[in-house]
Amino acid sequence: MFERDHVANLDGRTRDRYFERTRATWRIASSLRNHTRWQVADATRVKPPEIWDLVLCRNLVIYLREPAGRTLLQDIASVLAPSGFLVVGRAERPPDSRGLRAVGTCTYQNNVIA
Ligand SMILES: C[S@@+](CC[C@H](N)C(=O)[O-])C[C@H]1O[C@@H](n2cnc3c(N)ncnc32)[C@H](O)[C@@H]1O
Repeated sequence: MFERDHVANLDGRTRDRYFERTRATWRIASSLRNHTRWQVADATRVKPPEIWDLVLCRNLVIYLREPAGRTLLQDIASVLAPSGFLVVGRAERPPDSRGLRAVGTCTYQNNVIA
């Protein structure tokens, strides 16, 4: 759930496209929610078999001891689709050797061509 303040900076078109209003709050639109699958797991132990277009892994790696943090980012990089995106926290960087290039603040794109 998102409070009114959380969506206040979005333009109305974006907000209405990606969010639905509930009584006093907002939530992600069902058209997006229907394309998501949630799973509780230890990210350092589970390596999903799928290929991902987008991985949001913000402010987790900074709490891991090395080499767990580096290994996790390498594992994520290895399951990113060609041109897939990884978003990390401000203090986090994916390994240089994995073909990811910075394309925005905290946002990296897989450089691998399909
Ligand atoms: C500082 S919070 C960041 C939350 C959010 N991603 C953000 O940037 O606001 C760190 C989160 O990582 C989760 N976490 C810590 N160790 C984890 C692990 N081994 N596997 C999965 N999640 C973990 C914690 O439960 C917590 O929700």
